[in-house]
Amino acid sequence: MKVQRSQILTQNQKDFSWRYWFTLPIYPFGQRQTIRTEVIKDTIWTFDQLQGIFYVVVPVRMTVVKLSQGGLLVYAPVAPTPECIRLVEELVREHGDVKYIILPTISGLEHKVFVGPFARHFPQAVVYVAPNQWSFPVNLPLSWLGLPRQRTKILPSDSKQSPFSTDFDYQVLGPIYLGPGQFEEVAFFHKSSRTLLVTDTIVSIPPDPPAIIQLNPFPLLFHAKDKAADIIIDNLANRRKGWQRICLFAMYFRASTLEIPSWGEVIQETWKAWKAKQYSYKSYFGLYPFKWKSDWQRSFEALRGNGRIFVAPILQTLILNRAPRETLVWAESVAQWDFYRIIPAHFDAPITATPQDFRQAFAFLQRQPLLNGSSGHTYPLPEEDFQVLREIDAGLNRLSIVPPAEDISVN
Ligand SMILES: [Fe+2]
Repeated sequence: MKVQRSQILTQNQKDFSWRYWFTLPIYPFGQRQTIRTEVIKDTIWTFDQLQGIFYVVVPVRMTVVKLSQGGLLVYAPVAPTPECIRLVEELVREHGDVKYIILPTISGLEHKVFVGPFARHFPQAVVYVAPNQWSFPVNLPLSWLGLPRQRTKILPSDSKQSPFSTDFDYQVLGPIYLGPGQFEEVAFFHKSSRTLLVTDTIVSIPPDPPAIIQLNPFPLLFHAKDKAADIIIDNLANRRKGWQRICLFAMYFRASTLEIPSWGEVIQETWKAWKAKQYSYKSYFGLYPFKWKSDWQRSFEALRGNGRIFVAPILQTLILNRAPRETLVWAESVAQWDFYRIIPAHFDAPITATPQDFRQAFAFLQRQPLLNGSSGHTYPLPEEDFQVLREIDAGLNRLSIVPPAEDISVN
């Protein structure tokens, strides 16, 4: 696997600029760098960028696959910054035009928002979108999202009807009704490389921060603090500490090993640090409204589960449990494909995983974990870390904002 960066950090900022950041105002706003990685020589490339809120930053990824007849298919486009487009055009020169652009989700705004602007750079490409598209808060026509009306099509329900069926099979999960919106995702199987492409349903967490997050380590170092006054040295240990805490935030909002101090304590700590003149531009904002328990790494190790794939707790608690049967049927169908590599749109990639591992990741929807045929490493997530998500779930139920979870028992 070869990381291909055409630029260095001192590059003109224009190269990373994403003019339409206000359509989804999350970090890093108008400046997005891209790292292209060749996963399989002359066949599959990933393009990593960053996204986040309050310095909880995680990779967001697009995957480009060379078609057997020549040309490229793009799964889940990222922000088409000048740097990103140049990196794609390098592939176009060598392997042919972008022929197809896939929007594989109806709910993931962080993927949806880039499809129209990305497609404008490749006017010969046909855009295929997951069926049942919607826009929050109102259902806008696709053309309002900037998707080119003349060349946007809905993915046929039978993947054999798609123009790229020689190279790909796909399976649609959903739509899952969620009250204010719906969830849907399309998993793509690239037959010749035995690679599965997914968007949000599956993740795996690396122990160290991904390269795209290390380009600007500030969010990592911010989260490596224990107190507002801490001056954090930029080294691998602190970057790793920050990354592991970011993962806990991103996955649980608040793991059981994180305490939230009162604002009085936060301000007191900030004032102490100020008096000690320990502020520098690196202490940005000064406020550090978190207090980690001494055993916080236990939560991280349980979450990481030695790198096994899993379904993000937010999806487990708030989304897929609304349609457990449909989700399991989909997981069974996907597990029929003979893949050994998965590329998700967030966190680690590529991941070595089997269809049995994939199926096992959805065993949380059943009372009994599946062990037959899988690697047996289930690493279940600790129930105590789900507390905040369970509270959100209960609140949404109480207010009848989302339908209740469905409890099933399938052995
Ligand atoms: Fe996503």
